Amino acid sequence: MAANEGLKLVERGEDGVDLAFRADVLAGLSEAQKAIPARWLYDDAGSQLFEDITGIPEYYPTRAETEILRERGVQFAEAIGPGRAVVEFGSGSSVKTPLLLNAIAPGAYVPLDISGDFLRAAAADLVVQFPGLPIHPVEADFTKHVALPDEVASMPKLGFFPGSTIGNMVPRTAVDLLREMRGTLGDEAMLLIGMDLIKDVGVLEAAYDDAAGVTGEFNLNLARRINRELDGTIPVEKLRHVARWDDLYARIEMHLEAQEDLSFSVAGSDFTMTKGETIHTENSHKFDQRSSYMMLLSAGWTPCERWTDSDGRFSLILAEAAIPRSAP
Ligand code: AVI
Repeated sequence: MAANEGLKLVERGEDGVDLAFRADVLAGLSEAQKAIPARWLYDDAGSQLFEDITGIPEYYPTRAETEILRERGVQFAEAIGPGRAVVEFGSGSSVKTPLLLNAIAPGAYVPLDISGDFLRAAAADLVVQFPGLPIHPVEADFTKHVALPDEVASMPKLGFFPGSTIGNMVPRTAVDLLREMRGTLGDEAMLLIGMDLIKDVGVLEAAYDDAAGVTGEFNLNLARRINRELDGTIPVEKLRHVARWDDLYARIEMHLEAQEDLSFSVAGSDFTMTKGETIHTENSHKFDQRSSYMMLLSAGWTPCERWTDSDGRFSLILAEAAIPRSAP
């Protein structure tokens, strides 16, 4: 761990509680539209449930993006060139990374993740698969500024941000993050980013409300986590998972809906929900070519290539930090 070593990523209270989690939940449950930031969906159980989601028949994004990575290696090599340090944002336990690393002859690989455990396991696998490749894992919250290891300081960078995770942020936060990435990666950088596409509402809603109920469990796990970690009394069995398309904002919203009037407490504070009221737990924005390009351009990235899977469900966009000379 060359950079950011010893960073305290989670602030805990005397009772061991994650202070940021408690603050977000108490503030979010006090809003007129109750809402909790989606990042809290990912405790150990939630991360495992998300891994399960990537394999369910209705959830197409992972398969579609993997198809692009498998099929377009030659074009990636041509457009990106050799010798770049690949910086993967939120590397997790990614299985997509080797497909990219195999295609482009990178100079180094820098996985960034907030979970040290995931990071070390993934890095250990890749050391075996790519024996000559320098790997420098960094345990960091990539939504903040990250110091990259000195070993890659002189290499041009390729940011890799797959999965359409950018779609889980509202545009303002997404643009802030993309601009921050540009600052971290430097003026010579390129960025390869996955963005899920707008499509038939039935396909989208099924992807977020699968028949086996895995996505429902993923959503309800947040209420269970609140009960477990914040001394909550939310009657989880009286909440229902809802996934609905908002056409104006081009996003799937996940909510937890009260099936009857409820009262409960969390960390000593009392809350009520009336029947039908919801807690908004996630946005998953979908894009077309124009909206994805506009978002990248707003953050200082110039799109240069775009690939989609054979069914046109998902896009991978390559952008460069350089500003085109033709800009007036
Ligand atoms: C991580 N992220 C890109 C997923 C998505 O598709 O928005 C999270 C997810 N939520 C429900 N299913 C998957």
